[in-house]
Amino acid sequence: MTEWVNITIDGKSYSAPRGRYLLEVCEELGIYVPNFCYYYKLPPQAACRMCLVRIENIRKLQTACTVRVQDGMVVTTNSDEIIQARQGMVDFILANHPLDCPMCDKGGECELQYMSLTYGNLFGRYMETKEHRDEYQLSPFIWLDPQRCILCYRCIRVCDEWVGDHALGVLGRGAHSEIIGNKRDGTLECENCGNCVEVCPVGALTSANFRFRARPWDIEDTITTCTYCADGCQLKLSVRDGKVVRAWAKDMTGINMEFLCLKGRYGNEFVNSPDRMHAPLVRRDGRLEPASWDEAIGLVASRLKEITATHGAESIACLGSPRLTNEVLYVLNKFARDVIGTPWISHIAEHDWRPFFNMLTAPLATQNDIRSGKKTLLLIGGNPPEYNPLTAYSLRYAVRENGSRLIIVNARPLGRLPEESEFFHIRPGSEPALLLALLDESSLNAVADVTNLSVEQLGALRRALEESEDLVVVIGPEVSGAALEAAGALGARWATERRRVRLLPLMRFNNSLGALDMGLTGDLPAPEDIGAHIKALYLVGVDPIRTYGDRWREALARAEFIVVHELFMTETAEYAHVVLPAMSFAEIDGTFTNNAGQVQRVRRALESGGERRPDWVILRLVAKGMGVEMDVRGSAMAMLKDMAERVPGYEGITYEQIDAEGAVQTHRALVKEVPWDDLLDRLKAQVAALDRDRDMITEPPALGAGLFERGTLIEHVPLMARAFGWNGSRLKDEP
Ligand code: SF4
Ligand code: SF4
Ligand code: SF4
Ligand code: FES
Repeated sequence: MTEWVNITIDGKSYSAPRGRYLLEVCEELGIYVPNFCYYYKLPPQAACRMCLVRIENIRKLQTACTVRVQDGMVVTTNSDEIIQARQGMVDFILANHPLDCPMCDKGGECELQYMSLTYGNLFGRYMETKEHRDEYQLSPFIWLDPQRCILCYRCIRVCDEWVGDHALGVLGRGAHSEIIGNKRDGTLECENCGNCVEVCPVGALTSANFRFRARPWDIEDTITTCTYCADGCQLKLSVRDGKVVRAWAKDMTGINMEFLCLKGRYGNEFVNSPDRMHAPLVRRDGRLEPASWDEAIGLVASRLKEITATHGAESIACLGSPRLTNEVLYVLNKFARDVIGTPWISHIAEHDWRPFFNMLTAPLATQNDIRSGKKTLLLIGGNPPEYNPLTAYSLRYAVRENGSRLIIVNARPLGRLPEESEFFHIRPGSEPALLLALLDESSLNAVADVTNLSVEQLGALRRALEESEDLVVVIGPEVSGAALEAAGALGARWATERRRVRLLPLMRFNNSLGALDMGLTGDLPAPEDIGAHIKALYLVGVDPIRTYGDRWREALARAEFIVVHELFMTETAEYAHVVLPAMSFAEIDGTFTNNAGQVQRVRRALESGGERRPDWVILRLVAKGMGVEMDVRGSAMAMLKDMAERVPGYEGITYEQIDAEGAVQTHRALVKEVPWDDLLDRLKAQVAALDRDRDMITEPPALGAGLFERGTLIEHVPLMARAFGWNGSRLKDEP
């Protein structure tokens, strides 16, 4: 319960929450107190002494970032002595700092530059020769210029607290202290998220992709949503001269606050790649050759009509990518069902989450649900630091800021999650048994046998849930089939008047849930179906060979006709009869739905080159070629209106609402009556079939198992390809 107290700042009375840091209270009241080392929700460091204020009845000036508000406090933030003290601090910081702002990458958006101009002296007091230090590369992604470092320790604290990597430290003492990486030679071995760069107030830490490429006034920022994992971070894409030059976190108002992972920060420059598809290709005499849009669309339309006439509409399968926007997936679903008339409409997914949503009995947990208030967090399976890094950030935040209880059930000890968490180490593949233990207390003996946990441990786990008043269960992709239905049913089993339950599925792609919501819910054809009863494939942004392996290579070779919409020439596209060049997420408007069911905007940040078109426009053109005018409106914004009228859960969602709230959570219908007997029978059968002889795994997953994974988009980012030695992609270094 917050207690409000009366304080006086610069002669005016305010009420403020007792115990809050004075600096934060001043910021909230709009009273600016200069600061360097303070950073929101990081432990105070009191390193820079820029935030000095006078507090009545205390002899010395105090650092506002460390003083907590008390009742009756009388504070002065501006006076001659304070101005003098600040000038002294700026002088001191500049004593060995290069005074060459026009040469520095941070020039124009540097906090020290601003402080010097606003609070510093016109003439410095220190005349000593500066001790020059060369800059060097800490990692393929990050450079350090030690002489520019002002020793605010933000980078170290961010790495410790936000990322859990503890990869940065400090060498030496006093003015000779130096930031160093965790490797023996002082460089970095870490997840390369770049959050340390983002919070560095000066040009000491810089990103390899952006340094010396643009000034802030040369670039235009567009707020959009990350195109990688299902957590759905908001980011700003900076564009200069028609090229994406960097991505950075939006500000504190996105669902990710100010966090981004490696992929979200450094994985966007595939958009600029010279390897992007520029023009349509059609197969002539066995070779894919450039063609006009009219020829390509005409060929697609006529072949689809022929195949429908000969083999029936159900001989055509349409597959979309869970990376596409809701708007594209919505149109693709209508194209498949209404224009072609096939039931074969699905999306490429690495995990089938349909059972979970078919049995959903509790609301989905947002990142904010995880981070706000004290609660119990149960993580079953998954590897959030590698595959859902924002969720990992939120779990750390919840433990650190609120003292939440984090219980991890996993077949491997996970790194980069709080040490305070409780770990239940289970046999690989036995996650379904754990779900059985949570639903059926009478099964604990059988579950103990499968999971390698004791009955006492399982009892303790159940007690932890019983003791909780606010429970979030985070479910990894190791949970499948009936166990996934059981995970969906956890709300019905554990929610009471006293206990709130929310669930978060660790889906993989940025719009995995949107793909289900937009109706791409059919079964995926098996490779054997291709050439047998499936004669044609309409593939939008998918590469089944890459996702599912060589069996699809043979399958594609048997298809009579394949259409591919793509950004790049993929292995699958090489089998196509027509390849149509599509626009990327940075070149279109639309929305993504994250794993919490929150709809967020995707905004066009730059013009697309070549003859590319948005996928939904291409689909409408093909439909028109087939003689069907599609019943969808003509812009992404208007399509959201369609979806808000027709897609369950999306009722009433508008751009205005998303712009005002940032992320709008869809309303999911919850299952009221769980068929418990049937569900438990199927779950027990699933558990009975589990392998009880699998060896326990004691090694944590490798750093980069998910983050450094190669994919169609990311392999076309020059920095990534160089960092990870991805030779063999069709990369050319950009000028
Ligand atoms: S890049 Fe990320 S993990 Fe590496 S040192 Fe910086 S904050 Fe830590
Ligand atoms: S490198 Fe940047 S963030 Fe880190 S201590 Fe130096 S100035 Fe601060
Ligand atoms: S955590 Fe996920 S959504 Fe956020 S930046 Fe990383 S990949 Fe993108
Ligand atoms: S911001 Fe208070 S000491 Fe640095």
